[in-house]
Amino acid sequence: MATLMRFVNHSFCSRMGHRSIALSCNSSVARAVSFGAAAGKPLPAKVKIVEVGPRDGLQNEQTIVPAEVKIRLIDMLSEAGLPVIEATSFVSPKWVPQMADQVEVMQGIHKKPGVNYPVLTPNLKGFQAAVKAGAQEVAIFGAASELFSKKNINCSVEESLQRFEEVTKAAKAQGVLVRGYVSCVLGCPYEGKVSPEKVAHVAKRLYAMGCYEISLGDTTGVGTPGGMSEMLEAVKQEVPVDALAVHCHDTYGQALANILVALQMGISVVDSSIAGLGGCPYAKGASGNVATEDVVYMLHGLGIQTGVDLHKLMDAGAFICQFLNRRTSSKVSQAACKL
Ligand code: HMG
Ligand code: MG
Repeated sequence: MATLMRFVNHSFCSRMGHRSIALSCNSSVARAVSFGAAAGKPLPAKVKIVEVGPRDGLQNEQTIVPAEVKIRLIDMLSEAGLPVIEATSFVSPKWVPQMADQVEVMQGIHKKPGVNYPVLTPNLKGFQAAVKAGAQEVAIFGAASELFSKKNINCSVEESLQRFEEVTKAAKAQGVLVRGYVSCVLGCPYEGKVSPEKVAHVAKRLYAMGCYEISLGDTTGVGTPGGMSEMLEAVKQEVPVDALAVHCHDTYGQALANILVALQMGISVVDSSIAGLGGCPYAKGASGNVATEDVVYMLHGLGIQTGVDLHKLMDAGAFICQFLNRRTSSKVSQAACKL
């Protein structure tokens, strides 16, 4: 606990730095509205951000992060106004040791009313453990690539969909919400190119089995706006656009551009990770997700509401980076805090 308190009481960014960021966001609203019009499609007025840092961010860390630090991070993120925070995974501790403290984390967080705390569950065993630990929402995670599916969850895409059917049936019976992921939507670390049709097929199956939202994961961040647009065109034929989200890793620096294309195509749910932490242990070379701070900065600059307080968000990013002894990957935090 002593370790934790050292970090909690420390705010790393000067308020002056934060204020200058808020001003630059406001001044760009008018320009952004005309940008939306110029692009020919209205941008959404509001975007829901799904914060995946405590799960996707921390699952890839070599040093085990204590549960008390994860709990503090999640509470700081909810205080910053994030509506959804993916808290942990109920996966095998042999496969992902970093998530072995999932029950402690789920039971330790302060569940803020109105905030959802989904957790990853690859199978019925994970689902049952998650519900026992108090989860009210779970996420199943499939892939559009056979080899990635095998490496990540040790089964084929079809086998995974059968396991997910069991989870969605049990979830329906217990009133638990289910979110679905499709990984490798713009490329696979083992197979290379992935066809948009395969992505659309897996997304359709997940939606048909009851997922209320399908998050399309560019797992290794190889996608470009051209690929994003082509893939979304295909998926939109099978799943209503308001049930879609994008989940962009930023390995090639394309994430914000890809997200902007998704917004122009009607998507209004964006996954991101505090301080740009993250990566998948079974996708070598995948860097972190796009930083939540950078997504919020861009959205506010476009005049899009998120309900998120950028100052508090940057404090949460500074907290976890200080703990990890790591420079933030958020450009906005780098600019504001000179970390
Ligand atoms: P398996 O070895 O094929 O499973 O693993 P199994 O059914 O043969 O069981 C083997 C052992 O695991 C048994 O224990 C089971 O009890 C146990 P043992 O008898 O050896 O002691 N087990 C479990 N333990 C805890 N929780 C469970 C569970 N299920 C079985 N739910 C399994 C299959 C899916 C479990 C394994 O492959 C696994 O845990 N994989 C983890 C994958 C993972 O977490 N990857 C990272 C998240 S995905 C991601 O990051 C991508 C995403 O961000 C989107 C994107 O970026 O594209 C979502
Ligand atoms: Mg991911």
